[in-house]
Amino acid sequence: MWVCKASTTRVGVVIIALASWLAAATVTGPPTLNGPVFPVPSFPGMKTRMGDFVHPGLWHTHDDLERIRAGVEKGEEPWKSAYADFSTDSFSQAGYAMQGPKSVLCRGPCSNYTSFSNDVRAAYQNALMWYITRDQGHWDRATTILDAWGTNLTNIVGTDASLLVGLEGDLFANAAEIMRWEGGWVEAGAKASGGSGFSNQLYWLFARHIKALLSFAVYLDDVAMYNYALYSYLNDLCAGLYGNFDPATGQGAETGRDQGHAMGALGWTAEAARTVQSQGVDLYALENNLLLRAAEYTAKYNLGHDVPYDPKFYRCEAVLINGPWSAPSNISRGVSTGIPKVWDILYYQYVVKRGLCAPYTIQIKHALDALGGEGHPTGSSPGDHPSWGDLIWSYPGKGDFLNDNNRTIWGGGSIGPGGLGNLNSA
Ligand SMILES: *[C@@H]1O[C@H](CO)[C@@H](O)[C@H](O)[C@H]1NC(C)=O
Ligand SMILES: *[C@@H]1O[C@H](CO)[C@@H](O)[C@H](O)[C@H]1NC(C)=O
Ligand SMILES: *[C@@H]1O[C@H](CO)[C@@H](O)[C@H](O)[C@H]1NC(C)=O
Ligand SMILES: *[C@@H]1O[C@H](CO)[C@@H](O)[C@H](O)[C@H]1NC(C)=O
Repeated sequence: MWVCKASTTRVGVVIIALASWLAAATVTGPPTLNGPVFPVPSFPGMKTRMGDFVHPGLWHTHDDLERIRAGVEKGEEPWKSAYADFSTDSFSQAGYAMQGPKSVLCRGPCSNYTSFSNDVRAAYQNALMWYITRDQGHWDRATTILDAWGTNLTNIVGTDASLLVGLEGDLFANAAEIMRWEGGWVEAGAKASGGSGFSNQLYWLFARHIKALLSFAVYLDDVAMYNYALYSYLNDLCAGLYGNFDPATGQGAETGRDQGHAMGALGWTAEAARTVQSQGVDLYALENNLLLRAAEYTAKYNLGHDVPYDPKFYRCEAVLINGPWSAPSNISRGVSTGIPKVWDILYYQYVVKRGLCAPYTIQIKHALDALGGEGHPTGSSPGDHPSWGDLIWSYPGKGDFLNDNNRTIWGGGSIGPGGLGNLNSA
């Protein structure tokens, strides 16, 4: 029986990154970053040189991938059942028929990016399939998709281009990271001068759009970009952690908009924290586990309970669709197969790995599991989150921490001088 204990860990100013997931707005064009990233002051957790990066180190480190593979190999739950579904999904097949590449895509009123969404998903799922099975067919499928798009796509246009970049782009970078660092894939197209290829495109086309910058920065070993993204996540009062979740209650800045966006925000923040965790810094514990309190708030409301609501806590630097909002929105409230697949990452990180108190997060995960869980991508925006939570985010139980006083691999600790991990020993 799981025992609920209150969280006592208080972490001071630490890290968090993820740029402006929620600030994306359908104005006349997405905010773009068409030049060098801005320099930021020194802060704990920042990178100082290229060799600081851990690879693979976006959503999945080598240890994470091994945990997945070992769980599948030994037939342990939840990996066993999750893999049974995952391995038969159409996007996990080596024989998946690539739908691209295309040279220009649009997201917005002229949306025409389905081929990209599907191919990106197939690349990511085939990368995981390759890691688990070591089957050459999966290696080939994942890398040919990466190379085809990596050498052909030249522009992404439309008012919501940054959403495409940030969401599908993040999945794509995750596929590339696994194949490069575990699969020995060498990008096609690279030339000494000019040239093309995935990194080139990632840097000039994707990363210039700000979103999912953390993932892009790690893949590119770009210290300045990483520090900028992390600093923004910590300090940007609109796009960062504190602009999105009210430290007083856990209320999300889009609680009054609709519950789909309120939930999506939790997932994106958790996925970004996952990348930073892979890089050795724990963001989940920040501000007395603010993200957990945010999860509890939104889970509670969607399970049918009342929550305290501050109408003054809404998103800034963004178009307030039908807002500011006077009350929590009932739009898409509840638990259904169509809601964003964000609960597993929170559940495994906080409840299983850290043993923290999260009654509503547990309840909403179980309610969702009863409807089929967070496996196959479904809903109106299947590219928003990776899905397959029981396979990719799960832990066997409370963690053994890698305690070398240098890297925080499994969080819960605080950040020491120079950004070094100071690990908990629980
Ligand atoms: C998508 O739409 C944009 C803008 O209309 C256009 O330039 C591009 O060629 C289209 N791409 C595809 C694959 O249809
Ligand atoms: C574009 O994609 C095709 C695969 O469809 C590939 O053969 C080709 O090398 C790619 N790159 C360029 C520059 O055409
Ligand atoms: C949501 O539904 C509840 C119960 O039906 C109602 O009291 C409340 O006013 C609704 N909120 C909004 C913003 O419509
Ligand atoms: C931790 O870092 C210190 C200096 O930064 C180094 O001397 C030590 O070997 C590192 N420990 C491990 C286990 O890597």
